[in-house]
Amino acid sequence: MHPVDTFGRPVRDLRISVTDRCNFRCAYCMPKTVFGQGYRFMDRKELLSFEELERVARAFVALGVEKIRLTGGEPLLRRELERLVERLATIDGLDLTLTTNASLLAKKARALREAGLARVNVSLDSLDDAIFRSMNDVEFPVSRVLEGIDAAAEAGLPVKVNAVVKRGANDEGIVEMARHFRGSGHTLRFIEFMDVGTTNGWRLDDVVPAAEIVERIDAVFPLEPVEASYRGEVAQRYRYRDGAGEIGVIASVTQPFCGDCTRARISAEGKLYSCLFAVRGTDLRALLRSGASDDDLRGAVAGVWARRADRYSEVRTEQTPTRPRIEMSYIGG
Ligand code: GTP
Ligand code: 5AD
Ligand code: SF4
Ligand code: SF4
Repeated sequence: MHPVDTFGRPVRDLRISVTDRCNFRCAYCMPKTVFGQGYRFMDRKELLSFEELERVARAFVALGVEKIRLTGGEPLLRRELERLVERLATIDGLDLTLTTNASLLAKKARALREAGLARVNVSLDSLDDAIFRSMNDVEFPVSRVLEGIDAAAEAGLPVKVNAVVKRGANDEGIVEMARHFRGSGHTLRFIEFMDVGTTNGWRLDDVVPAAEIVERIDAVFPLEPVEASYRGEVAQRYRYRDGAGEIGVIASVTQPFCGDCTRARISAEGKLYSCLFAVRGTDLRALLRSGASDDDLRGAVAGVWARRADRYSEVRTEQTPTRPRIEMSYIGG
């Protein structure tokens, strides 16, 4: 059974948040002060166990999922994450990947690869140490992220680098980043700063449109567009005309891609969200812990998907940034 939603979109990608914690405090995601208060993180027992996560993953695969991405917070903070990777790697035909800030990647890359991880996406917003330190707000140096990227590549994990661009914060470094990663074999992707969550003080003026990013790079390193590698690919791809590799831009604000959105998300406590901007989730943990069968679980997920009508980025208006919604650190992007 492969359900489609009310717009005919199948479910193909599952993004699983394995922890709501992070050791960074990026202002656009988990600012240090939230209205003067701290964060209330989940207790261990609130998190889905690896066994529960494997059951959930298998239910989604039975419904059509082909890619599973582990996210957080910072997923590598979840103890023994490689044990989860090992379990998920036993599911046939799955693209199994991870989005990480790379702070622990140098230590973990080999174990993750050996456990069966296929590839990683690393978040890195600037190569300028002062700017990067101020963006992560915990004085984390660029050099250690680069070490993480190198360790991943050495372990045989293909790497993509994701940079969120915020006007006035790091946009002056766009061309420098392109220069650095050209020819490295790692695809660099620029993400438009989005109005996710309620704490990042998002304003449309902060967004550098993807078209402008492409223009700025193209002026120095000529580019040409590349076909998407799969239906619903979030990034628009470009290649350097001189053969030095590829970049991507994720234009979720200026050119939303809801029409092909095949993504489902699970929070670390087991709530299912059918959109990054959803207000409410469906509690799969309650179902799992009340002795539901695999059939019940699949049925519940299929039901949520069949009712899905989300297309937030396409209906975003000047007013919507004030409505309630989940935080990026809770759902993992
Ligand atoms: P690949 O499988 O390597 O193509 O990765 P991906 O682009 O699916 O995943 P990644 O975690 O690298 O996503 C990059 C960023 O794109 C996320 O952090 C979000 O900022 C943005 N993004 C991903 N999915 C969605 C989505 O469904 N809606 C919106 N609005 N933004 C998204
Ligand atoms: N806009 C765009 N991307 C964001 N991310 C976190 N917050 C935002 C935002 N407001 C990205 C991170 C990482 C991924 C998990 O989500 O930089 O690449
Ligand atoms: Fe920054 Fe990612 Fe951590 Fe959010 S989850 S604070 S974007 S490193
Ligand atoms: Fe998918 Fe929602 Fe993002 Fe649109 S806004 S692409 S429906 S997650």
